[in-house]
Amino acid sequence: MQYFQTSNKLTAEQKLKLLVEFGTRTSGEIRLDKLLDIIAQQISTMLDVGRCTIYLKDVEKNELWSKIAQGKGLEHTEIRVPLNGNNAVSIVARTGEVLNFPNAYEDPRFSMDVDMVTDFRTHTMLAVPLKNNSGKVLGVFQVANKADGSTFDKNDEGILTLLATLAGSSIEIAKLYQDVHVAQLETIYRLAVTAEYRDQQDTRAHLKNISIISYLLARALGMGTKDSELIKNASPLHDIGKVALADNILLKPGKLTPDEFEIMKSHTIYGGRILEGAHSKVLKIAHKMSLYHHEKWNGKGYPNGLKGENIPLEARIVTVADVFDALTSPRVYKPAFPLEKALQIMEEGSGTQFDPKCINAFLDALPEVKLVLKKYQ
Ligand code: C2E
Ligand code: SIN
Ligand code: SIN
Ligand code: FE
Repeated sequence: MQYFQTSNKLTAEQKLKLLVEFGTRTSGEIRLDKLLDIIAQQISTMLDVGRCTIYLKDVEKNELWSKIAQGKGLEHTEIRVPLNGNNAVSIVARTGEVLNFPNAYEDPRFSMDVDMVTDFRTHTMLAVPLKNNSGKVLGVFQVANKADGSTFDKNDEGILTLLATLAGSSIEIAKLYQDVHVAQLETIYRLAVTAEYRDQQDTRAHLKNISIISYLLARALGMGTKDSELIKNASPLHDIGKVALADNILLKPGKLTPDEFEIMKSHTIYGGRILEGAHSKVLKIAHKMSLYHHEKWNGKGYPNGLKGENIPLEARIVTVADVFDALTSPRVYKPAFPLEKALQIMEEGSGTQFDPKCINAFLDALPEVKLVLKKYQ
């Protein structure tokens, strides 16, 4: 995370206060992005520097990464530096030593790449290792350009090292949370692939489409980012119950007989059973989605014939995403329909198959849906 400072002079007393508060401000935050943002801001203020950048190690890719705020901190761009490179931050990450350049551009170990991207000119630079409690290097804290124009001294080195020590365990905990979260999403996704790969020609695109459309629908319905993210992450599991269906039904190239369709319908019941009693928020939502995604607004759906708002909203949302994707994709039993025809079917289903509010939200979100779905690019 990188933070740019507009200079404000602090008294020694104010700095001490910030230092004391630093621990409490950072210890409660488990969202890694937020945490890094707070830390970078505090460091910029306390050391009164033009820029603070926090790099974290990506062991898998053998790189250091940081997010930099572009244009008033709205957009975050990721920058990556090879860990085995010969530039300042890589050296600090590898060796664990402190590097202090009074004139960065005159030192061959300083790379100007990040300056170029951010339209910033580094004059003085200080980089210290970020370590966890057991001394393992997690990343690098880098600051540049003291507001008063002086070079970084031993005192600054001491403060930045102290801040890195104070922040180390919070950052490590936030990273662990993030790893667990990523592992959970990956598991959900792989589980969803298992259920879909037999009957979908392009499982990956199908699951992605369902996720994206569900997310945009939730947003268009006015749901917050967090709830919308949960819906997005749960939606790939809506057809998990298909794992229980035999190939002769799931893969039948032509039309299903009424008996076969009865069996096909049971994928909702199986999905419900598979996810029954789940504890996590995301799997609880996935449970409702898998059980109720073929219910219809008019009560003529399956498995329970629920009507209107008795159908959980999460399920009403994924229904719209699912059917739209089914209509616009090839299936073993049908070709992909052109967008116009798909939209016509969706609109005709408003108030019968679909919740009218969800269809309105879908139409509102349509420009964005088209923008992000690969097949419309
Ligand atoms: P799916 O192919 O993913 O389709 C999901 C839902 O999209 C369908 O749920 C239906 O509501 C909608 N849909 C798909 N194709 C069309 C279409 O051509 N016109 C309209 N108006 N809506 C469409 P539904 O009908 O409950 O079917 C559930 C699943 O059963 C389907 O998932 C598919 O796997 C299977 N299925 C349905 N009909 C047939 C069929 O005739 N042959 C085969 N082999 N499978 C079928
Ligand atoms: C380096 O420290 O040399 C690479 C990152 C930067 O240019 O700030
Ligand atoms: C899908 O495969 O996209 C959904 C099929 C279904 O809802 O049964
Ligand atoms: Fe389904």
